[in-house]
Amino acid sequence: MMALAGSAVGLGNLWRFPYLVGQNGGAAFIFIYLLCVIFLCLPMMFSEFIVGRRSQSDAVTAFQKLAPGTKFHLVGLMGVIASFLIVSFYCVVGGWGVKYFMDACLLRFSSEAAAGTAESYTSFISGAVPPIVYLFIFLALNAVVVFLGVKKGIESFSKVMMPILFLLMVVIAVRSLTLPGASAGLEYLFKADFSKVTSKTVVAAMGQAFFSLSLGVGTIITYASYVDKNENILRCSSVAALSDTVFALIAGCAIIPAVFAFGLSPNEGPGLLFVTLPYIFSNMPFGGLAAILFFLALILAALTSSISLLEVVISYVSQHFKVNRTIVVACSFVCVMALGSLCSLSLGAAPGIRLFGKSLFDLFDYISANILMTGGSILITVFVGWKLGKKTIMEELTNRGSIKVPDWVLNVICFVIRYVAPLAVLVIVLFQ
Ligand code: TRP
Repeated sequence: MMALAGSAVGLGNLWRFPYLVGQNGGAAFIFIYLLCVIFLCLPMMFSEFIVGRRSQSDAVTAFQKLAPGTKFHLVGLMGVIASFLIVSFYCVVGGWGVKYFMDACLLRFSSEAAAGTAESYTSFISGAVPPIVYLFIFLALNAVVVFLGVKKGIESFSKVMMPILFLLMVVIAVRSLTLPGASAGLEYLFKADFSKVTSKTVVAAMGQAFFSLSLGVGTIITYASYVDKNENILRCSSVAALSDTVFALIAGCAIIPAVFAFGLSPNEGPGLLFVTLPYIFSNMPFGGLAAILFFLALILAALTSSISLLEVVISYVSQHFKVNRTIVVACSFVCVMALGSLCSLSLGAAPGIRLFGKSLFDLFDYISANILMTGGSILITVFVGWKLGKKTIMEELTNRGSIKVPDWVLNVICFVIRYVAPLAVLVIVLFQ
């Protein structure tokens, strides 16, 4: 459960959620986001969980075991590819986190303060060597945890880190909320203005919900494959989804009110975390300490997520092709390092690395969020809803009748998995 929550809570919550809230008008976005989590993402999470736990296999073999002779394993393969693309740009941002954490420890924010932060951020991320060095450091941390394996590495790491992370974020949110003028930020977060909602808001909210809950690429299938048959799927998934959502809201409360307290704009985009925040930290009382804690939290959160993405690839290659895990970890390290470096270079140092008019970094983000994750989620729910069917869903959610779940709850979940979730996602995607 902690590992699953660890996978969900990550840069999606700390970096993506606050800037999307800021770009999409605050409370209305949050409201739509919550609807997506409850009505679309949660049933999708149950579906992935069922596939993983029932098959006890990696994301590709799972489909081969549950539906031999069909083409459904291609869904798993698509997930493995998507995980690989996501982890490549994800680790680049993880590397930025390492750099900002080190800067915070060396008290660099105070000297760089004020107007200089935007330029220093842009010149850092578009530089050639430094971001790649930080990518290397971040990826090395990943490799250590993943190398130790699922139980000793991923599970024990998440168990210790998640509560620490939670505590750190609460401390920072309290600091932010007690700044003079922070209440305007709270209002922005929780007082909805639906007149500004467009189809773009809905697409952004849904995409973010998928990303934040690690859906559609086999992360949950992979983690669930290690889960005991007696574990309660409904409880596990709901706790993970709830922690993720609460965490996103706390991150919002840590960042947006501070932005308002300093009279800055929440509409900064991806730079919000790395430009606006260092400025705030360098200007507020105890900001130096808050900065260290915040970027430490960011690294921990990112790590527990990137290891889950890596594990999709690693468990597939090591189980499916029966290759020694250490070799697979080493090869993944090299491949992600190579692809991640290209992503990083595409942000400025080598602007030629573009495809379809986007930098490689944006392209990977775009393809995974808009095509592979949504497509994967639709196909997985169709697989569970129609191929495995209602009886299997009920059997898995109640552990063959040993957990008491009211019938109407099961019926609603089945209905959503079979009809509502795939259709709703399809409609939203087509709208886009
Ligand atoms: N959910 C993580 C975050 O919020 C990132 C992540 C982990 C992810 N596994 C995933 C995103 C699978 C998409 C798909 O940072």
